[in-house]
Amino acid sequence: MDQKDRILVIGALGQVGQELVETLRLRYGTERVIGSDIRLPENPPELFEAVDVLDTERLLAIVRKYNIRYIYHLAALLSATAEQKIKGGWRLNMQGLFNVLDLAVEGHIDKIFWPSSIAVFGPSTPRVDTPQTTVMDPNTVYGISKLAGERWCDYYHARFGVDVRSIRYPGLIGYKSLPGGGTTDYAVDIFHAALQQGSYTSFLGPDTRLPMMYMPDAIKATIGIMDAEAASVKIRSSYNIASMSFTPAEIGAEIGQHVPGFQLDYAPDHRQAIADSWPQSIVDQDARADWGWQESYDLAKMTADMLLNLKKQ
Ligand code: SER
Repeated sequence: MDQKDRILVIGALGQVGQELVETLRLRYGTERVIGSDIRLPENPPELFEAVDVLDTERLLAIVRKYNIRYIYHLAALLSATAEQKIKGGWRLNMQGLFNVLDLAVEGHIDKIFWPSSIAVFGPSTPRVDTPQTTVMDPNTVYGISKLAGERWCDYYHARFGVDVRSIRYPGLIGYKSLPGGGTTDYAVDIFHAALQQGSYTSFLGPDTRLPMMYMPDAIKATIGIMDAEAASVKIRSSYNIASMSFTPAEIGAEIGQHVPGFQLDYAPDHRQAIADSWPQSIVDQDARADWGWQESYDLAKMTADMLLNLKKQ
C-alpha cells in the first residue's frame, strides 16, 4: 500500500470495529485509518465519518475524499437482531456487501475484508469438527445472508478478480467493546456480571458448546489474512478459523477459579435454538496451511486476561 493510500473500516463502532481501528492505527498510523459507522458517536474520534453502507454515493465520496484503497466491511445485523428485523437484516447484510464489492469492480479500491460466521452452518451440518467444505443449511436470516455473501465473494473474485478475503468468525470475546444482538454474547456478558454482581444468568443452557475466540486472536486473523500474499488466499468464499470451544458451564467454572463464589444460573431463551443449529467445534486446517493462522489464547488464558483487564477498567 502506498503512503498516501488509506484504509476504511465500515462498522467501526461495533464489537470488532472498535478494536480493529485501534490496532490498524498503531500499525499504519492514525491518519491512514478512517473509521465509519451509520452515525457519528457523541464524541466522534479522529478521522471518523458517518457513512450508511447502503448509500452508494456517500460511500464513494468518502472513498475518494481519503484515497481509500482497503476496506474492512464489518457493518451487519447479528444473528439475534436479524431474526427480529428480517428484511432489514437481509438488506444491510447483502446490499452492503454488494456496494463494497462493486467499488472494487469499478477500480476504486484494491482489497476487501468481509467477515462471515459460524452461522453459515445449519442443523444438517456435522456439528463436531465441522470441516471447511460440508453441508450448509443455515436457518437464520443472519446465517442465510452470510452464506449468500460467501458465494458472492467467491463469484466476484472468480468473475471480476476482486481481491476479497474472509474468515468465519466464531463467537468473539473482548474487554474493550461490547457485542450487540448476537447469540454468543453471553460469553462477554458473563465476565461483566461476574465482576459486578458475582452471578450471571445465561440465556443459553449449561451444555451448549460453541466455537469461540478471544478478540486479540480475531484481530490477528483479520489482519493476517489481509496481509497474506494474494496467491496464498486460495479460498475466496470464507475460511474456517478456530481457537477454542466451550459451554456456559465450562466458562462458568473457569471464571469461578478467579471469582470465588461465582454463581451461574440458566434461563435459555429464543437464542438457544439458534445456538443449537450451529457447530460445536470447527476444523481450520486450510487457514493454518494457506496463510499461517495460529491462535494465541485458550479458555484459561483468555479468562485470566479478560478478568485482569476488566478489573483495571
Ligand atoms: N457472534 C455472532 C452471533 O452470535 C455469530 O457470528 O450472531
